[in-house]
Amino acid sequence: ILPDYNTISKWTANYIVRRIDLFNPTADRPFVLGLPTGSSPLGTYRELIKLHDEGKVSFKNVVTFNMDEYMGLTENHPESYKSFMWNNFFSSVDIPEENVNILNGNVSDAKKECIRYEEKIKAMGGIDLFLGGIGFDGHIAFNEPGSSLDSRTRVKTLTYDTRIANSRFFGNDINAVPKYALTVGVRTVMDAREVIIIVNGHNKSRALKKAIEDGVNHMWTISALQLHANGKIICDEDATLDL
Ligand code: GLP
Repeated sequence: ILPDYNTISKWTANYIVRRIDLFNPTADRPFVLGLPTGSSPLGTYRELIKLHDEGKVSFKNVVTFNMDEYMGLTENHPESYKSFMWNNFFSSVDIPEENVNILNGNVSDAKKECIRYEEKIKAMGGIDLFLGGIGFDGHIAFNEPGSSLDSRTRVKTLTYDTRIANSRFFGNDINAVPKYALTVGVRTVMDAREVIIIVNGHNKSRALKKAIEDGVNHMWTISALQLHANGKIICDEDATLDL
């Protein structure tokens, strides 16, 4: 528990940099980083860019896998997760484009795309560190309530609540928010060697309580983190309101 969002962002960015540094990645043995979108990680991305500009970290030998992508938005749509990642992070650091992996939400065969993604993660030796956030209902990536805790990358129907929450990025028009997304599964996240979840703000306090004080269950998919040997939640004071 840290005092505020700024402190969370600084802590998380420094932690990631330390992990990359300790790993000492090379082109043949890259550090594999799982990444989220959303407002929760924005501060961390800002801090990582700062540390990169100060010469404290390079992403040349870092390979990334993003958690999820909307279905049906064009790649260059300003609210596609691909646009989000390039606008808020990748364009400002030295990561080679070929090291970036994001699910393609515009393929004709989504199932094939999901299998390809899982296989690529496996071929890279698995994910060293998965960074994430959560939705108000405790979903991780787009693993909505009711998702199997054993799930892998697949297509998910977004809940009405998630579409309302995300409509703020679509001119508050819920009809403009896609109904489906491709997402890594709960098991895909839990298979990472380390998982760090950022939870900030009082409106995430119920989800935080469900995540850590109630039992592991598929209605609050973040609760699966309880079973991870190396999983951390980094939260601010506001998010602890219900604990
Ligand atoms: C979306 C994303 C999640 C993210 C969640 C919360 O549903 N798929 O990965 O954790 O939004 O977003 P925010 O951080 O903006 O609250």
